Amino acid sequence: MARYLITGIAGFIGSTLAHTLVEQGHDVRGIDNLSTGSLDNLAGIRDKIDFQQMGLQDVAGMKSACEGIDFILHQAALASVPRSVKDPLTSHQSNIDGTLNLLLAARDAKVRRIVYAASSSAYGDQPMQPKQEDMSPLPLSPYAVQKLACEYYIQAFYRTYGLEGICLRYFNIFGPRQAADSPYSGVIAKFTTMMMAGETPTIFGDGLTSRDFNFVDNAVSANLLACLAPSSVATGRVFNIGTGRSHTLNEVYATIAEQLGFTAAPFYGPTRAGDIRHSLADIHRASKELGYHPKAHFHEGLQKTVAWYLAEKEKKAASTL
Ligand SMILES: NC(=O)c1ccc[n+]([C@@H]2O[C@H](COP(=O)([O-])OP(=O)(O)OC[C@H]3O[C@@H](n4cnc5c(N)ncnc54)[C@H](O)[C@@H]3O)[C@@H](O)[C@H]2O)c1
Repeated sequence: MARYLITGIAGFIGSTLAHTLVEQGHDVRGIDNLSTGSLDNLAGIRDKIDFQQMGLQDVAGMKSACEGIDFILHQAALASVPRSVKDPLTSHQSNIDGTLNLLLAARDAKVRRIVYAASSSAYGDQPMQPKQEDMSPLPLSPYAVQKLACEYYIQAFYRTYGLEGICLRYFNIFGPRQAADSPYSGVIAKFTTMMMAGETPTIFGDGLTSRDFNFVDNAVSANLLACLAPSSVATGRVFNIGTGRSHTLNEVYATIAEQLGFTAAPFYGPTRAGDIRHSLADIHRASKELGYHPKAHFHEGLQKTVAWYLAEKEKKAASTL
């Protein structure tokens, strides 16, 4: 059994990885500063993992977190475009300084490999679709710059120090446990919980903005495959992790509304600064070199997600009786 360190373990994707690895019987250590994550996401596995509340910027903390680790699944970040536009310095410190600190600790502890949660925001608003890894990056927001800079750091750490690394450029990941209560939440989490509360969501722009929405189980499988990939692939290379299909925000709204029996039409608001118009992944490289094949499809993923938010609402209601 391998020993994993998950950064950002109390977040949406980090906690989903943790649940899967614990189920598979692996040793899991996790760190999180709980800036956007929640310990609720670790319910059921909290006593089966080694959790430390700490930030990536904690030098001594990262050193001890990396000791004896085989694989780091690096998910921790302030993961929001609007937040980085409003306060670029805080997200820079968290995302870039924090990642550099983690990489230094990983290098010194001789960790076998780091798998990094990179972002499709690196492509910016280039018209070419689908996005291919060889395209020149064009980051539009401070967040996109930060996520891209960490890819370069991972590549530099391979070339300079021989630390194996793989960058998974996630497209829009959605699923259970995605935070719905912050202004920076993913659109699916937000629409679902608002409609459940009888509130009408606002779509920024005309609703024809499209994204390659990818159910979280597919991102989990990509991380596990990245750990198993041969060393020749783990040279800091970049892989798109999407589905190869895109859906508009109007379509997302209509699908969730139908599942919840919500009949009101959406409100429309102004386009947000730093937002990208269309985003679609070419996943051939990940399929060929990692064996990544997204098994969970959009509608099925959306059904599971909506069902999860409904069940959570019921649980909360029952606990207040
Ligand atoms: N969700 C997506 O669609 C998506 C798309 C592209 C890339 N990503 C990347 O995937 C990763 C996980 O995203 P998520 O959606 O699970 O976000 P999330 O906000 O749910 O999880 C991030 C976690 O990191 C923690 N964190 C933030 N800064 C930290 C720091 N400096 N030190 C320690 N912990 C810190 C937060 O408390 C949170 O628990 C992020 O790196 C994000 O940039 C996500």
